[in-house]
Amino acid sequence: MSVFAFLEQVSAFGVVVIDPEARVVLFNRAAEEQFQRQAAEVQGRPLAELLVQAGAETLGRRRDGAQFPAEAARSPFSHDGRTYTVLFVRDISLRRQVESRKDEAVALASHEIRAPITSIGVALGIMAQTPDLALPDNVRRLLIIADRECRRLRRLVEDYLSLAKMESGGAPFTVARAELAPLVLQALEAVRPSADNERVGLEFVDEAHGAAAVVDADRFVQAAVNLFSNAVKFSPPGAAVTATLSCRDGRVRLGVRDRGPGIPAAFRERIFRKFAQAVDSEAIRKKGTGLGLSIVKAICERLGGNVGFESVPGDGATFHIEFPAA
Ligand SMILES: Nc1ncnc2c1ncn2[C@@H]1O[C@H](COP(=O)(O)OP(=O)(O)OP(=O)(O)O)[C@@H](O)[C@H]1O
Ligand SMILES: [Mg+2]
Repeated sequence: MSVFAFLEQVSAFGVVVIDPEARVVLFNRAAEEQFQRQAAEVQGRPLAELLVQAGAETLGRRRDGAQFPAEAARSPFSHDGRTYTVLFVRDISLRRQVESRKDEAVALASHEIRAPITSIGVALGIMAQTPDLALPDNVRRLLIIADRECRRLRRLVEDYLSLAKMESGGAPFTVARAELAPLVLQALEAVRPSADNERVGLEFVDEAHGAAAVVDADRFVQAAVNLFSNAVKFSPPGAAVTATLSCRDGRVRLGVRDRGPGIPAAFRERIFRKFAQAVDSEAIRKKGTGLGLSIVKAICERLGGNVGFESVPGDGATFHIEFPAA
């Protein structure tokens, strides 16, 4: 059986084979189902009419223009001295639906636990911080731990809810043209106490000279705070974190440079995923939950900006967020 005849028979995936010019030469039964198109009508057509890339997402296009989220694994092979590529395509709409239901359920649960956490937190906070309460030392120590953990739990729930709302498009964004340097300073002030605590310096280099963008000021600060807090958290004591605001090609960019361990190559691809942390250690989990960068990404996407990073493992990382200048 020839390789083409074999691929034709595959039924678990939609199979699309393209020639070296990225034109369709084979379109199996399952692909006809997925794309709602006949093999005869797509033969010789460019692959780009069937699959489009939207950011990190691959979308399949049906004949009527409807789109479905797809996953397409590619594998090149040679045939008669030419290099073809086979794409195994899966329609992942159902998986996406399940994911979004799961997200909604978790968001609802988070919402319901927010109120009791708040009351517990208030009570613990008062007890832990009232010095003249006659409490045995060990009880006071436990109270302090409970108070700290309660605050951590509250932050986790708040972060999760804020992210879930942004992702569902439900969070209100109040956008207006704003000069970014003052917002960067505001974010730096917010992380200064923890930077001082860790003996990490904070520097600000403003090369943008009054550059502005159309942003939700609070959300921009929230994004910047998340980048600064990571930079501080991963910096060795005595090192400095440098924030640089610059403006180039109509875009304003905030870069955040640190001298920490950098991002391991194997982690790069997962870094913006919810709850993703490079080092799975108790110490790191104590210091965060892995939601910060997902929040940064969601904010940037809502504001028409983007987030990225460069890092040489062992020589620190530079994260940036970027928005169209206004
Ligand atoms: N500047 C950095 N240097 C080294 N690693 C980083 C840096 N920024 C992020 N990371 C890696 O990416 C992971 C995810 O970052 P993210 O901000 O999403 O979560 P977190 O800081 O662990 O927790 P949270 O922000 O929710 O408190 C971190 O745990 C760390 O492994
Ligand atoms: Mg973080």
